[in-house]
Amino acid sequence: MAKARIVYYCQSCGTESAKWMGQCPSCKEWNTFVEEAMPEKRGAKAAAYSGHKVKATKLKDIEASEEGRVSTGMAELDRVLGGGIVPGSMILVGGDPGIGKSTLLLQVCRNLAGQNRDVLYISGEESLQQIKIRAQRIGQFGDTLSLLCETNLDAIDAIVRDEQPQVVVIDSIQTMYNENIASAPGSVSQVRESTGSLMALAKGLGVAVFVIGHVTKEGVVAGPRVLEHMVDTVLYFEGDRHAAYRILRGVKNRFGSTNEIGVFEMCSGGLREVENPSEFMLGGKPEGASGSVVACSIEGSRPILLEVQALVCHSNFGMPRRTAAGTDFNRVNLLMAVLEKRVGLKMGNCDAYVNIAGGIKMNEPAIDLGIVLALVSSYKNRAIDENTICFGEIGLSGEVRAVHMAEQRVLEAKKLGFTACVLPEASRAALHGIDGIRLIGVKSVKDAIDLAI
Ligand code: TYD
Ligand code: MG
Repeated sequence: MAKARIVYYCQSCGTESAKWMGQCPSCKEWNTFVEEAMPEKRGAKAAAYSGHKVKATKLKDIEASEEGRVSTGMAELDRVLGGGIVPGSMILVGGDPGIGKSTLLLQVCRNLAGQNRDVLYISGEESLQQIKIRAQRIGQFGDTLSLLCETNLDAIDAIVRDEQPQVVVIDSIQTMYNENIASAPGSVSQVRESTGSLMALAKGLGVAVFVIGHVTKEGVVAGPRVLEHMVDTVLYFEGDRHAAYRILRGVKNRFGSTNEIGVFEMCSGGLREVENPSEFMLGGKPEGASGSVVACSIEGSRPILLEVQALVCHSNFGMPRRTAAGTDFNRVNLLMAVLEKRVGLKMGNCDAYVNIAGGIKMNEPAIDLGIVLALVSSYKNRAIDENTICFGEIGLSGEVRAVHMAEQRVLEAKKLGFTACVLPEASRAALHGIDGIRLIGVKSVKDAIDLAI
């Protein structure tokens, strides 16, 4: 009998090695190698090609229509998916424990069952009773939803082929296992093999498969990176555990744009869609406080207004502290350097804390102007008019550069009752026919500070 081979896999990127290593040579992560029994010898027969003929198809002969997409009944989720579920696609939903992944997908199942579509929800984590209790909180379910508690992939394969549902939900990929592989569920080879067989199921039968994935403490889906490469769509469900709202972000999408976000609120009866996130983000904004500015960021195709807060105070130690929550730390340092050098503000011996209110993460350069105005407002201890919003990218020479979709941003601000908008002069010059809101075009950070503060 052949001796079972032991191999070591990096849990972060899936690199295979014959011996244990402290640091992964490919992704440079430390302590990620774990021992696993080698899966059945693959490729032994690969040397002999069976010789069966394959044929390529002309592009013009392939028919594809957008009509095949199935609405999930949640506009926010549909938008992130690029207009609905594509039959035969595999969608990975990642997120922290307790963020609401199971709830979201159970609600999707409810909506699909409401459209009389056959849906199969397979849970490896909860019992049928637990799912029922959750379902009772969410509401009325149609008759076409079936539940199954199973972790064996061969059994799952058989039942899906047998019942041929239109949508399958797998709650969570880390609990699934394949009998042919010796290692424990959740290990690299199990996750990879499970994803592979679910993928074959999705493509072969044309069923859409939603897969829930846990994330590691660094915030990426646990298991090898290959998992993300294999599936068609990767969505991350994120949000502050202490706040009620949740953001669903598309990070990969073979059938749509990846920048879209969907905003939800966790209520006692499940997740509720938030149609106007700006209003939601600005709730609780202080009035007349220094260091608080409303900025506008575009997420996908939608403008979102958000509050940028800054606190600048004298540092008691030689080395000032800087923190940035919800935005890029290095960007904040860069903007402070611009203020120091181009505007002449002496911030070198000040502590500075920047925060995007509500715990949301925004990295669009257009919020630069918001960060700068918040910092200066706090530094000078002078509040900015609370009916003013601002947006614009800042360059290293202190210039305020044009940003895209200026019109949508201005209209969103107007819709929410703001009366003035500080924006790059180049963007202002390109805007025509907007009234009801005062547009203040600025060319440099210095202008913006003089006009706004
Ligand atoms: P869950 O979907 O189980 O999270 P995950 O599958 O991502 O681990 O969400 C559980 C949390 O959501 C839990 O803290 C309770 C809360 N919740 C509500 O607030 N309202 C509800 O209607 C439901 C079903 C859950
Ligand atoms: Mg769950």
